[in-house]
Amino acid sequence: MAQEFDVVVIGAGPAGYIAAIRAAQLGLKTACVEKWTNPNGEAVLGGTCLNVGCIPSKALLASSEEFEKINHHAQTHGISVKGASIDIPKMIGRKDAIVSKMTKGIEFLFKKNKITWLKGHASLTGEQGDRVSLKVQAEKSTEDVSARFLIIATGSKARHLPGIAVDNQLVCDNEGALNFPAVPKKLGVIGAGVIGLELGSVWRRLGAEVTVLEAMPGFLTACDEAVSKEAHKLLTQQGLQIQTGVKIGDVKTSAKGVKVAYTDAAGKSQSLDCDRLIVSVGRVPNTENLNLQAIGLSVDERGFIPVDDHCRTAKPNVFAIGDVVRGPMLAHKGEDEGVLVAEIIAGQKPHIDYNCIPWVIYTSPEIAWVGKTEQQLKSEGRAYKAGQFPFAANGRALGMDAAEGFVKVLADAATDEILGVHIVAASASDLIAEAAVAMEFKAAAEDIARICHPHPSMSEVMREAALATDKRALNM
Ligand code: FAD
Ligand code: NAI
Repeated sequence: MAQEFDVVVIGAGPAGYIAAIRAAQLGLKTACVEKWTNPNGEAVLGGTCLNVGCIPSKALLASSEEFEKINHHAQTHGISVKGASIDIPKMIGRKDAIVSKMTKGIEFLFKKNKITWLKGHASLTGEQGDRVSLKVQAEKSTEDVSARFLIIATGSKARHLPGIAVDNQLVCDNEGALNFPAVPKKLGVIGAGVIGLELGSVWRRLGAEVTVLEAMPGFLTACDEAVSKEAHKLLTQQGLQIQTGVKIGDVKTSAKGVKVAYTDAAGKSQSLDCDRLIVSVGRVPNTENLNLQAIGLSVDERGFIPVDDHCRTAKPNVFAIGDVVRGPMLAHKGEDEGVLVAEIIAGQKPHIDYNCIPWVIYTSPEIAWVGKTEQQLKSEGRAYKAGQFPFAANGRALGMDAAEGFVKVLADAATDEILGVHIVAASASDLIAEAAVAMEFKAAAEDIARICHPHPSMSEVMREAALATDKRALNM
């Protein structure tokens, strides 16, 4: 006899676990299927984000930033520290403890909201009337489950390159790169995207010589050009060696390490010897053995489950959210889709403005943006005005030794509506929230310019950049 639920969610990453919590809050009898086990073999919730993504990477970024501050920035404040050292296993242990605390926190939230956690791999078996049937395969048992509504939130996994075997010892994807037992003397990174820059920064700060090999001729091409230029300047000044326009050839491992053959932008054959290599060339959606065809669904040519603007698949009672569908592969995008879908199932009429989803790259300084870049506005032929203000003219930033970077505001030339905000700054991840709120409320640059911002604070730069769109920044 199948266990019956109003809503079954497959996957307990940020998209799935948030969908399950919201569905349960709305009074729906909810189950969530999750197959992840941690290195100790324990079943855990939280998906990529909590186990091998956002949370562990930010923990390592924070540890390595402390180390870098002590070694390189403390002197600026008149503090001298001699012989600072870092215990890598302890740093990794701290990261693991944070992950464990967070995943246990979701277990608590599931209990609190009376969500049934079905441990194992879910696959679809068919339809019975207006219900979807699935089976959950655990190590020793199989369970039949039936749902009035199904939410697929199976996430993504690292894309690997043909002919480059990832063993997560010498050649690593994100999972291995978060667990190096010691600082590699030389670290190679394939892909100057978000993971390459964040994890490359972690190990560089801890002492590795890091070379990043990027296929595209440009650098961070999704960012506003002013931002990618500034980020390239600052990251290379810090010591990241970034080569763009390369073509990766053979990758060979030996007792000595890894040898990467590649062709550089000038077409010259090169090779990079390193102790470890990170392959961070994007992620692919997870639909392995899900058996979508049992309910007449299939994936698109890139492997994503096709959905409409409300995350509904071709089946009216089946939704898909998070990394397994179109749009940015970001935890907060998945979370918002989880809430959206649960509320639609409960009969509400929610909406997501995908243009207002912020991006953050947690390098130092951080890079964050929301809305359109200047290149996009130009190619759309939209008349706009730009205002930019540097942190070097902000007293708080100088006091904090965080005067690198700027805020750039793009606003419609006629209506003054904010169309995009781009930030390079120590606290860009927090500063960008103001811009996202402003854009959700369709605010004008003048609105931000007229709102009182605390002094001294980094947020004053946002106001000055908004003023600068009208050529009336006050402190420049
Ligand atoms: P996932 O988190 O991938 O979860 C999907 C879950 O579904 C998994 O637990 C999986 O086990 C389960 N599952 C899959 N198939 C089945 C099945 N058939 N049966 C049962 N269970 C199944 N994003 C940010 O916004 N900010 C960041 O700072 C950030 N940092 C990142 C750092 C790294 C190193 C990486 C790799 C990613 C990072 N991301 C970040 C991206 C973020 O982790 C993803 O966008 C997010 O986890 C996607 O959520 P999701 O719920 O769609 O999928
Ligand atoms: P990415 O898409 O950010 O970057 C991949 C990079 O690899 C690109 O610059 C691409 O041009 C390059 N590349 C692709 N094929 C290549 C090849 N054969 N040789 C050399 N370079 C190649 O992907 P990444 O860094 O793997 O991250 C995956 C996703 O995870 C991100 O897109 C993002 O959605 C998410 N993420 C988000 C974070 C955040 O929000 N702070 C942090 C980390 C990951």
